[in-house]
Amino acid sequence: MKENKKDWILPDLKSAQKRTNNDIPIERLVFDLPETVRDMGKQRKYYLRTYGCQANERDGETIAGILQAMGYTLAMTPEEADFILLNTCAVRKNAEDRVFGEIGHLKHLKITNPDLILGVCGCMPQEEEVVDTILKTYPHVDLVFGTHNIHRLPQLLYQVSMSRERTIEVFSKEGEVIENLPVQRFGKHKAWVNIMYGCDKFCTYCIVPYTRGKERSRLPEDILAEISELKDRGFKEITLLGQNVNAYGKDLKDELNFAKLLAFAAQTGIDRIRFTTSHPWDFTDEMIDVIASFKNIMPFIHLPVQSGNSDILKIMGRRYTIEEYKSLFVKLKERIKDCAFSTDIIVGFPNETQEQFQQTLDIVDFCQFDNAFTFIYSPREGTPAAKMVDNVPKDVKKKRLALLNSKVSEYALKNNQAYIGKTVEVLVDGPSKKNPMIFSGYTQTQKLVNFKADHAESGQMVDVKITDCKTWFLIGEKV
Ligand code: 5AD
Ligand code: SF4
Repeated sequence: MKENKKDWILPDLKSAQKRTNNDIPIERLVFDLPETVRDMGKQRKYYLRTYGCQANERDGETIAGILQAMGYTLAMTPEEADFILLNTCAVRKNAEDRVFGEIGHLKHLKITNPDLILGVCGCMPQEEEVVDTILKTYPHVDLVFGTHNIHRLPQLLYQVSMSRERTIEVFSKEGEVIENLPVQRFGKHKAWVNIMYGCDKFCTYCIVPYTRGKERSRLPEDILAEISELKDRGFKEITLLGQNVNAYGKDLKDELNFAKLLAFAAQTGIDRIRFTTSHPWDFTDEMIDVIASFKNIMPFIHLPVQSGNSDILKIMGRRYTIEEYKSLFVKLKERIKDCAFSTDIIVGFPNETQEQFQQTLDIVDFCQFDNAFTFIYSPREGTPAAKMVDNVPKDVKKKRLALLNSKVSEYALKNNQAYIGKTVEVLVDGPSKKNPMIFSGYTQTQKLVNFKADHAESGQMVDVKITDCKTWFLIGEKV
């Protein structure tokens, strides 16, 4: 590949950090590819691997939609692909290490197929350090682009494959909210629906506000049209996506907020609505009322607590004390019938003491979460927390994580045991690979159920009597 360095657009964390009050324009794209680009993928296959969160999953569906519009078809393995794209996550170092491992691992495929194009996109390219490493260490990566450049994929791919130029294009600032990009949905009855992009919370440990830019909401009419279209096509469940959905609408001129959007979404009549993620700081009573009053808004809330200690929460920039979290939790539990809860927790934040960690265990005892995603703190270059000197040894952090995980499992099992004997509604995903008489699906409260049935269709709602359980799933029989 040629290297035309002057054409490269490299990431810049400083400008990614800036926020302005400028309105974000909405661009209703007419997605019309020039003929040369439209046929580029004919006889060619792509392989896409997505890491990380649901926002990335949803971006993967747009990438797949664009590639299919260019004539590419899906390859089942990297070996049979002409274009391999890694859609990456930057939230923790171990996720990044896995990607670098994979990039190294894919190198040999370029020897057997010299025309193979290898690309890296998603959150990692938004980091200066990552692009430097790719430039220095991984010359076999041909294409690098960021989270704000997805709509440019046809042009970028054309440049790489026709001009044989190594191409790097990472915008550090978000552009317009772009509507009408093609999308290839990976699910048949469950779909992701973006309601907003970016994050302005700037929790001190988190890279997301830098990699995904300023908070910007889609217009309600675009979101509702997407939900209605999904419903008409037979989709049963949608998940409204945003880094912090509570902030929805704050950047729009209308008197609109997440509670109102959620009510409008429920009024479309689609069977199941979920949303993620909610920040405990601006979870309003109006939101609670809406969740409690619509049957098709699922009683399941992901409410990241991060730590059980108010001093740590303060240094994390979380904007709530642990007492405030507890009172919100109690209110939600009282007002939303049979609601299930999950959370995110970070252990080993710089200088976390044993007592502070004990308070994290205490909050788990208090809330008895149905599920928790637990992590060891990982310093992210460019974030304020990364500058803090840390005195907690790695093995202490590992021990804390193990202790926390065993407590989390205890409550997951206890909560599941409470389902035994009950009959619950399950949205069927499909039969088990090993046994055609066993099916799986999810309850309204987002619990996985494996159940016996003579027959069940994927996408069907069935009633299942729960007879047994394990820590991470329920077991039952179709009634
Ligand atoms: N280190 C560890 N965990 C992190 N998370 C975000 N940033 C970091 C980090 N630097 C976790 C938070 C967040 C979840 C998506 O990832 O718990 O809620
Ligand atoms: Fe990161 Fe905090 Fe924004 Fe979540 S709310 S994406 S943890 S900065």
